[in-house]
Formats: sequence, structure tokens, C-alpha cells
Amino acid sequence: MCGIVAYVGHRNAQDVIIKGLKRLEYRGYDSAGIALLNNGLNVYKKKGKVADLEDHVTGEELISTIGIGHTRWATHGEPNDVNAHPHYSSSRKLAIIHNGIIENYSALKQELINKGHQFLSETDTEVLIHFIEDIWENNHCSLEEAVRLALNQVIGAYAIVIMSSENPDMLIAARKGSPLVIGIGKDEYFMASDATPIIEYTKEVVYLNDQEIAVIDNGELRIKTVEDIPSTPYIQKLEMELEAIEKGGFDHFMLKEIFEQPRSIRDCMRGRLDANEGRLVLGGIREYLNKMVNAERIIIVACGTSWHAGLVAEYLFEEFCRIPVEVEYASEFRYRNPIIREGDVVIAISQSGETADTLAAIELAKSKGAIIIGVCNVVGSSIARTSHAGSYTHAGPEIGVASTKAFTAQLTVLSLICLSIAQKRGTITDQALHQLLVELETIPEKVERVLALNDQIKEIANTFKNASNFLYLGRGYNFPVALEGALKLKEISYIHAEGYPAAEMKHGPIALIDEAMPVAFIATNDSSYEKIISNIQEVKARKGRVIAVVTEGDKLIPQMAEFVIEVPSVHEALMPMVSVIPLQLLSYHIAVMRGCNVDQPRNLAKSVTVE
Ligand code: G6P
Repeated sequence: MCGIVAYVGHRNAQDVIIKGLKRLEYRGYDSAGIALLNNGLNVYKKKGKVADLEDHVTGEELISTIGIGHTRWATHGEPNDVNAHPHYSSSRKLAIIHNGIIENYSALKQELINKGHQFLSETDTEVLIHFIEDIWENNHCSLEEAVRLALNQVIGAYAIVIMSSENPDMLIAARKGSPLVIGIGKDEYFMASDATPIIEYTKEVVYLNDQEIAVIDNGELRIKTVEDIPSTPYIQKLEMELEAIEKGGFDHFMLKEIFEQPRSIRDCMRGRLDANEGRLVLGGIREYLNKMVNAERIIIVACGTSWHAGLVAEYLFEEFCRIPVEVEYASEFRYRNPIIREGDVVIAISQSGETADTLAAIELAKSKGAIIIGVCNVVGSSIARTSHAGSYTHAGPEIGVASTKAFTAQLTVLSLICLSIAQKRGTITDQALHQLLVELETIPEKVERVLALNDQIKEIANTFKNASNFLYLGRGYNFPVALEGALKLKEISYIHAEGYPAAEMKHGPIALIDEAMPVAFIATNDSSYEKIISNIQEVKARKGRVIAVVTEGDKLIPQMAEFVIEVPSVHEALMPMVSVIPLQLLSYHIAVMRGCNVDQPRNLAKSVTVE
């Protein structure tokens, strides 16, 4: 989390940076700040959103062609003006922005305090810049060398950019564990946590690798490792377009992204699937497909919404590939001494490709000989690069903090991977495979039909907008959808919500049901249809208010439920891609009606690059 942007060139740095920070606000929005060189090195920072920083600096004559900026998701120290980045060094000759956590900061801080350093903030970042300056002054070395020496003593994760009043054309950046992209323009350079602040200026980028330091000095870019070994910048072309990161007439990014799903699912299948020919091609995993086909076990690691996609994948892989699957919260997996055998296949699912816990779980599994398959949305992200092979979800940039189109694209890719393996293993008949492939191709159009129910769902939202609690219940493939529905609602509307397997309800949550409790059933016509009807009756008998997502033409459930949302029929293994859509819309409308900031919900960040 935290977004960083830096610029050096011929433009007004303030404009480039503020605009860039707005694009990165999904990464954190507790405070924002900027450092510029205008009559000395000056830092301007403010608690709150980038817009608050913008108001704070409006009217000031801040002409500078170099600068660094930061939007923060607080870790060390509460969100306030003082803890906001950039931070000065002791002499105020240096300023730093940082995304990540310096784990050994207290030991370093104590050492520096003993030497007479005084700290203004509670942050680990301020300690780092003091530490760098201390080395710079005492070793009489270049700033670049001081940064390198300091980073060799730092434990933790970082993407940093440093500027100095003594070197008006120089930016020094480094990364370990947190992302950093460098944009190369004509006589100008950009640095940012992702490519969105860069895209409108240049499409040529270099993704800095872990343990690398980049120095831009007098218009030249040099890269070396923290061990002082020079490396050649590998310049790549960005494929993203500017429109993809704008709202395009929608009130919120989240709504735009919900409505983009027919297209994003189509994009995800494009070139990979031809049902008529029975052709399934996933270029990114081709070389590892045999290893996956022969795997004795698949472990899925992920967090949040991606973990829910992993749960659906567990059902898919076990049903069609007959390979045992374990789905793990990445954060738990890595700390519990898991049994990983050589040849185990680990599928890491991540929209951002930067989630620290997922990355750490991958490193652990890799060190024990597992094969890592990444399912990421952000091209060139850390998880994509560290995996042995993988398939991108191609959903396009997802900016709303609550994940929507990334989830359905993950389900699409996971279905394609599953069916490729099943086909090769011979655990699916040609006929069943053909049926599933044909149905997969119909999903975008079915999602479109659910989106057409937006007004109806808005009315339901209006009925329940003041609820204090919500239950989401589903069985089989729709159980992870219940979890995802509950997560969406709590993330953006701050209503307490729980997702549960419908049959487990009677072992606890049923105690919560009274006439004030809305219960959303995902009760499409699948193999547990009869069973879930009994669960609906159990809720009704306790006066719970039932909202049911059902298959079009359902005759029974409409007689029991207060509200019914009809979705098109599709094979139950693919239903989550369709049945989750009304739940996304329901949470969106409830959150808007409650006056919540749906794109930037409190306390959350889209990309969680701290453990
Ligand atoms: C954060 C986001 C969630 C996301 C989770 C995992 O918590 O707010 O929306 O599902 O991280 O992120 P990833 O990028 O790894 O999918």
C-alpha cells in the first residue's frame, strides 16, 4: 500500500505528481504529500486525500521540474500531517517517499537517537532517511553509495525515491518487495508504484527488480543491485490505454468496473478458447501444463476476494480434474510450517500481483520446490514475475478498492486452467468438456442480462440500506459467492455481514435471525437446490427477510422470498460468474445510499504490500 510518484524533466513536477497521486489513491488515502525544489527543498503535506493536499498547495508558486509525492496507507503512526510523507533528513537536504515497512527501524532509530538525531514523526521512513544521511556524512561517499550501504542494513520491504537539494537533477530509487515502475520519456523520467501515473506521458517503462537501485542523474538512467553490480535496464512497452483508468461517465470506478464485466470476461477468454473446435490454449502455462496434469496436489494461495476465487477453483479442480486441492489464506500458510513437496503445484491468485502475504507464501513454496502458477491481473507485477508460469486475467486496470471485475476474470481463467488440465488428464468426457466450453462462451451475454436488472436491485438496496447486519448463504459453488457478497457489503457500506454455507447456518448464525435480519440466499437451480429451499424455510420460520438470487423461471422460491433476483441459467460450475453480479450491485447501491465513499472505503487499500 501507499502510492509513490516522482518526476524529473521539463514539466511542472507538481502537476504531474498530483495527477499521478490521484491515480494511485486506491493504494491508500490517509494523507498525501509532495516535495519540490523551489528555492530549496520544500515539503508540503496534509492529512486526508490528495484533493486536500491540492487545496493546501493551491495558490503557492511551486515551480519545480523535479519532485516526489506520496499517498499514504498508515502503518507506523496515525494518519496526520506530521506522519505524512515525504520526510526530511536531519539537515533537510534530503527528502524521501516510501512504500513498505522497515522492520528493524526501532534498532536503527535508537542508534541514531544516541548520535543526537531528533525525529519529528513516528514513522519508520523518517528513520531510514536519517540513517542514509548519517552514512552519507560519515563515509564522505556519494549519495548513491550511501543509499546502497544503508539498504544493505535494512530489513523489510520498500519502494523508495529520494531527492536532494544538492543534486537538483537527481532522483534515487530502490525497491525490495514493493513495486516501482520507471517511465522513460523524452528528456524526462517518471517513477511510480504502478504505470497509471505514467501512461499518458510515455509507454516505455522499466520495472525495477527487487534489490535494485535506480539513479536518474542529468537525464541518464542507471540501474545497479544493492551488491553494487550494474544491470542493464530492460525497457518494456505498456499495453494499457488511458481510457482504461478513467471513469468513462460512471459515478464511480466500482460501478464502471461492474458494468465492464461482459467485456473483461470476453477479453479474458479471447484467443484462449474456441468451443466449436474444442480448443483451449493458455500460452502462459503451456510449458508447465504437463507438470500440472501430473500434480498430486494443488495448493491455492491468495487473500481477500482472490481467496474466494480460489475456493471456487477448489470445487472446479476437484470435480473435473480429480486432483486434491487446498485453498490457503496466504498469511496463514506461510507461518504454519506447511508441508510442501517437490512438484506440488501452487496457484497464486492476485489482482494486483503485489500482495505481500501472497508473495511471501510463493517464496516459501518456491524454496521447497513447488511449481508456482500465477493468476494475476496486473501485467509485470511482482507475483507475475516471480511465478514459473501463469495466466493473466486481462480484466484491465481495476481501480475501485472493492474487487469486482477482477474476481469474475479470475474465475474465468481458473475455469480455463481447470478444463485444460481435465482434458489432458482425461478426467472429463469430450461431451462434458464441450458443454462447459460452450457455456463459458455464453457467460458475457448472461452477465449483461444480470446487469440489466440494475434498477430492480437498486430498489432492493433502498429497502435494506439501513440494516445493521446481513447474512449471505449459499451451497456448493455458490458458497464462495456468499462469502464474496458479504465481503463486498462490509467493505464499502460498513454494514456487518457474514457469508456462510447455508447448511452450516443452523450451527450458529441461525441464532442471529429475527425480523430485522436480511438474509441473501444464492439459490440457483443446481444440485443442492432442494436442500437450500429447506434453509430458506428455516430462515422464514424465524421471520428473517429473504432476498434470493434464483435461476430465471424458478417457481418455488418466489413464493417464499420477499425479493427475488432472477439470473440466467448456466452450468453450476460456472454460476459464480453470474450469481455474484447482483451481489456486487446490491452492495454498491447500499453503500451509495448510505453516503459512503465506495471507491475508497475507510481503512482499506487496494494493494496490500505490507504483511
Ligand atoms: C485487499 C483488497 C481486496 C483484495 C485483497 C487481495 O484487501 O482490498 O480487494 O481482494 O487485497 O488483493 P490481490 O491484489 O492479491 O488480489
